[in-house]
Amino acid sequence: MMKDMQLFLVGEDNELRKDLADLLQMSYKVLMIDLESWSSEIRRYDPEIVIFTEGSINPVEMIKDFYQDFPNASVMYVHTQEDFQLLRELTRIGTEDFIILPDEKELLESRLEQLWQKRSVVRESAVASTGFKRGRGQIFAFYSGKGGAGKTLISTAFAQTLKLESTAQVLHIDLNLQFGGAEMYLGIESNRSIIDLKPVINELNEHHIRNISEKENYSKLELLASPMDAEVAEKIDEEFILRLLRACKRSYDFIIIDLPTTVDVKTFTALEESDRIYYVMTLDTPAIRVLKNVEELFKRLGLYTHERLELVVNQVGRDNELTKKDLERFVQLPITAEIRRDIKGIQSMINKGEPLRKEMKEKKMVGPAKDIQKWVSSMLK
Ligand SMILES: Nc1ncnc2c1ncn2[C@@H]1O[C@H](COP(=O)(O)OP(=O)(O)OP(=O)(O)O)[C@@H](O)[C@H]1O
Ligand SMILES: [Mg+2]
Repeated sequence: MMKDMQLFLVGEDNELRKDLADLLQMSYKVLMIDLESWSSEIRRYDPEIVIFTEGSINPVEMIKDFYQDFPNASVMYVHTQEDFQLLRELTRIGTEDFIILPDEKELLESRLEQLWQKRSVVRESAVASTGFKRGRGQIFAFYSGKGGAGKTLISTAFAQTLKLESTAQVLHIDLNLQFGGAEMYLGIESNRSIIDLKPVINELNEHHIRNISEKENYSKLELLASPMDAEVAEKIDEEFILRLLRACKRSYDFIIIDLPTTVDVKTFTALEESDRIYYVMTLDTPAIRVLKNVEELFKRLGLYTHERLELVVNQVGRDNELTKKDLERFVQLPITAEIRRDIKGIQSMINKGEPLRKEMKEKKMVGPAKDIQKWVSSMLK
């Protein structure tokens, strides 16, 4: 029964963590999380008890960040020698326990048991009061190394569809800070943009975000619009992006982000924070070549893409240079969706300033909207 209980060990791969894992593996399911991409990695789970181990450069910041995302989790810190200064700071931010190993081995075991008991009480009352957990929004990024692949068209229709076909809270963020684009596809004219969050970025909450977001008329999808200004874009840095996305996760169930092709630190941060990256591409040789370069770049930058990077094939039609089978022969990544081409249909909607989706269970949709609906419905199941 104990084996069902999952513990997370976050820290440097050192003796301490190894000893700790050996000790705990007898009674718990232990998951080791390495330092380099710990924050994105741990967000793939729903951690309840996390042990941070000595050897991290700044455990206070790490634990603070962790609590931002998982305010209801329990955190323990394990180290090898007394450090009162650190102990005081860690207590202040809410760390529940400090254990010094090897001396306090027994204390560790009994404290963990107590924590589990306490958590089962918390879990029951949380389910009873709200039915679902907040702070666990998922971020889906739409990216391509090639301009004009269809990121904006698909990401906006995807977000609209999610909103229409579920009761989830959905936000689309246009991170093409320089040129924008999402507003046009959604038929929105905004005089507010992400930059208006700058004065409150350090204390960003749901209220701030809802004040700045625009609502798409039909689906009521919320959009955080791009400033569409290169100079303004310069005022937004990677810390801004990080804080924005973390705050959005606390208030929305799905956050859909549309990214520019250039991988600067901002785009990189957004990619790093994403739970899933949908790489949009067409079925031709140049698209594959660019994808290979992107994979190479991600590897070099240390971007963790395992089980996170998926392909969305766009503009599928009779005159494609390659078939899906050809693509599968060249790349290992899963093909999650295929969106057909409908140039006339899409053009007439854009010219009328109308979004691809208008209502639930719509009958008359253009082909690409149908494909996106199929994709989203299978995802929601
Ligand atoms: N499946 C499709 N059928 C027909 N036209 C499409 C399809 N997908 C995209 N388009 C058209 O292709 C063009 C580029 O699409 P979009 O703006 O979404 O690309 P993007 O990847 O966001 O480009 P950028 O890199 O400039 O941001 C648009 O005119 C769009 O209407
Ligand atoms: Mg675009």
